[in-house]
Amino acid sequence: MKELFLLDPTITFLNFGSFGACPKPIFEEYQKIQLQLEREPVQFIVKTGIEKLASAREKLGTYIGCREEEVVFMTNPSYAINTVAKSIKLSPGDEILSTNLEYGALERTWDYYCEKASAKFIRQKINLPIQSKEQLISDFWKGYTEKTKAIFISHITSATALILPVAEICAEAKKRGLLTIVDGAHVPGHIPFQISDIEVDIYTGACHKWMMSPKGASFLFVNKENQNWVDPLIISWGYKSEFPSQSQFIDYHQTSGTRDFSACLTVPFCIDFMEEHNWHSVAETCRKNTIEMATYFQNELGFESISPIKEEFLGQMFSFPVFTNNPLELKEQLFQRFQIEIPVTFQNGNYYLRFSYQVFNEEKNYLKLLNCLKTLIHEGTIFFG
Ligand SMILES: Cc1ncc(COP(=O)(O)O)c(C=O)c1O
Repeated sequence: MKELFLLDPTITFLNFGSFGACPKPIFEEYQKIQLQLEREPVQFIVKTGIEKLASAREKLGTYIGCREEEVVFMTNPSYAINTVAKSIKLSPGDEILSTNLEYGALERTWDYYCEKASAKFIRQKINLPIQSKEQLISDFWKGYTEKTKAIFISHITSATALILPVAEICAEAKKRGLLTIVDGAHVPGHIPFQISDIEVDIYTGACHKWMMSPKGASFLFVNKENQNWVDPLIISWGYKSEFPSQSQFIDYHQTSGTRDFSACLTVPFCIDFMEEHNWHSVAETCRKNTIEMATYFQNELGFESISPIKEEFLGQMFSFPVFTNNPLELKEQLFQRFQIEIPVTFQNGNYYLRFSYQVFNEEKNYLKLLNCLKTLIHEGTIFFG
């Protein structure tokens, strides 16, 4: 499988999580679509491409467990959550309940729109290390007040790479009459999941991470009940459309001016690619290997893991705490000196190293990382608690 990817073979690539990586057949399909676009831009952008977008949405809907008219392609999850945060009607004092484990860009998005409305974005503290799902859920609901209007949580967190119990949290939120918004950027193609399995009103996911599409393909799911208040970020031809489809939601959000939506059109190909290569079992093996490597790293380095090292909390990524006075230097050393691509993440005053495990990774990649970390410990650049 390694040969299928375009990745630079001189780099030990342990950061699939940030931007995915596109296998050659998918990238070739992408270029084929872009060529079709450039051969007849007018027909493609106005007609044939739009028809293909509808069938791509349908196939994506089946894959993620929702109806075609509930899902629209967006460039990235930031675009999707900005769309929602800008539209939501907040009164002064209203609260959006979230966690202190969210993705930094989207915390900023919520801060921005909450501040504008004199509302509050609540980063409820989740105690680390997590002892159990029950403890995490109980920590979360300590942030609830009568002012809470909606919840916003990651399904898989960014810096800490933790799977959060979104099904349980959304079910409880619905009992309390709250709107449920989930950031599933890392989820599609990563862990088994169907939107229809949980009580979520709004869900975003990236196709260009674990589904391996080219960059610029993500989605926003909004259930029928909530589509009427979610305004498009860009008002374009879809408003008062001359050729309305049966869905105003799709008309409003799909048209945002001239753009190359070829990456979105590769999504059906990505789904077929994953089926052909038995991705269900590929991902399962990677998840098992992640657990094995995480346990091994913990034993070798002696850090305290931020959650139980179990499938309940971990997918194909593992974040472990590292102490350093100079995180930029650490990143630089790992990449420039050892040719290892791995993020050094930061949250709530702590630094983490986050490795991903994808089909092309082998045990020797992690042994190399471990040896390099031991060298850096020896040189006094880092230590583990
Ligand atoms: C939890 C989470 N949400 C959202 C995103 C998407 O970010 P962007 O919109 O910048 O691509 C990421 C990217 O890594 C993420 O980890």
